[in-house]
Amino acid sequence: MRCFLRRSLIAATFLLVFLLFISLAVWTPKDLEMEEAQKWAQGIGLQQLQADWNLRSLQNLTNTTNILSISYNYLAGIPLLRKKLLTVGLCSVKRKKGNYLLETLRSIFEQSTHEELNEMVVVVHLADPDQEWNVQVVSNIVKRFAYQLLLGRLLVIHAPHEYYPSLEGLKQNFNDAKDRVKFRSKQNVDYAYLMNFAANLSTYYLMIEDDVRCAKNFFSAIRRVLESQKGTYWVTLEFSKLGYIGKLYHSSDLPQLSRFLLLFYQEMPCDWLLGHFRLLLTQKEVIRFKPSLFQHIGLYSSFQGTANKLKDEDFEEDPAMFPDNPPADMITDIVSFENYMPSKAYSNAEDYFWGKAPSAGNSFTIVFKQPARIFHIQIQTGSEKHHKDYLHAGLVELGTYKKRDGKGCNMYTSIGLFEKGNFNRHGLENSTSSAPECVRIVVTRDQSEWLVISSISIWTKPSP
Ligand SMILES: *[C@@H]1O[C@H](CO)[C@@H](O)[C@H](O)[C@H]1NC(C)=O
Ligand SMILES: *[C@@H]1O[C@H](CO)[C@@H](O)[C@H](O)[C@H]1NC(C)=O
Ligand SMILES: *[C@@H]1O[C@H](CO)[C@@H](O)[C@H](O)[C@H]1NC(C)=O
Ligand SMILES: *[C@@H]1O[C@H](CO)[C@@H](O)[C@H](O)[C@H]1NC(C)=O
Repeated sequence: MRCFLRRSLIAATFLLVFLLFISLAVWTPKDLEMEEAQKWAQGIGLQQLQADWNLRSLQNLTNTTNILSISYNYLAGIPLLRKKLLTVGLCSVKRKKGNYLLETLRSIFEQSTHEELNEMVVVVHLADPDQEWNVQVVSNIVKRFAYQLLLGRLLVIHAPHEYYPSLEGLKQNFNDAKDRVKFRSKQNVDYAYLMNFAANLSTYYLMIEDDVRCAKNFFSAIRRVLESQKGTYWVTLEFSKLGYIGKLYHSSDLPQLSRFLLLFYQEMPCDWLLGHFRLLLTQKEVIRFKPSLFQHIGLYSSFQGTANKLKDEDFEEDPAMFPDNPPADMITDIVSFENYMPSKAYSNAEDYFWGKAPSAGNSFTIVFKQPARIFHIQIQTGSEKHHKDYLHAGLVELGTYKKRDGKGCNMYTSIGLFEKGNFNRHGLENSTSSAPECVRIVVTRDQSEWLVISSISIWTKPSP
């Protein structure tokens, strides 16, 4: 087993070094952070590269459909009969104080509909070395979630200890205490084996922790985001700002990610490694969505039961608060600054649109792909960082009769003015005789300040 492990670590090294060679050859590194990540990974990768290798084994290793062959113990649940859309994965170990695993599972199942659960599987990796504890937890899970287990919506697994690398004599990076290093190193391996297991279960993979509460219909919210991200490149989409909670991956990246975690397991905590992984796969910026879909509920961390009351203030449990923002194109004659593109105002990611000083008559139009009945529109301009760059004078219109070229509508009805850069209007559902196909923001006075449109939220259902 040890031998197998060494082999797989060497394999991971090959893979990573290869990835680096490729990436270094392809990129002109402009970005310092990215360059740093590459240098760092290359340094460590080369350090650990011990064996000689040939092109054929390299080709084998870059084939990331190859999942590490580990004999997992199925503690509860039945193997899946078909691939699902989403796997929700979490690891759990014994905690000195508090245990939130059952509450977390309850939240996942309670906040989801049957339709959502049919496309989803939850995988729990019970990763404690104490088998008695694992057995105890499994029996509690079986009692509480027998129905979900029977329907193949929940799996509980354990990766046997002989697959773990040594957790003694580890590098004490960042001056971390020995037991802290041991804890976070093991956690990296726990995650690696969980993701390796999950790689073949679904199209997307969502990592959460064992002490979270979920927003109602979080899965549907994620599906809408996936729809809006179609055709864009991403490695990680984030639905929480905390730790390893609410991070979404393509399952096809998991074999590579789990090898990456194994290779660098003793270097740093997993949330830092994930940042490096994203950069290495050339996603430069964090893509995080608001509101957050998961909230941290634990009061004590699983490391030594120390207090950990971190909360995500962007968490929103009630889905009615989530805007629908139907699929649309953005058209504007305001000049965008750098890559602060019009679409950034419309996605609920943290990003924003930033345009150069607009003149009276300039406009910003959202053209829906399909007519959409609109109940409520909220538009925010300016931001904390650029508080002067709000829309000083403007109005909002609903448009009907889409133009042939799709660049706007033929008829517009005004629905109100901006006040101090903000617009918020309910009860719009009967404002036009047919369902609107456009929403247009019109600038009504020249301004020397630039214009930040930080968010555009549209509800196609009654909202709070
Ligand atoms: C490539 O992988 C296959 C199966 O994973 C294995 O049978 C074969 O020996 C490997 N080839 C080399 C050159 O490592
Ligand atoms: C990768 O490996 C799998 C299984 O070992 C094999 O079926 C597939 O053809 C390989 N893909 C490439 C591109 O070599
Ligand atoms: C992936 O899952 C499919 C069925 O869902 C199975 O046939 C296949 O063997 C699995 N591949 C691996 C590498 O486990
Ligand atoms: C819109 O029309 C429907 C049906 O006539 C009515 O029930 C609803 O109250 C109207 N809404 C507003 C905001 O006027």
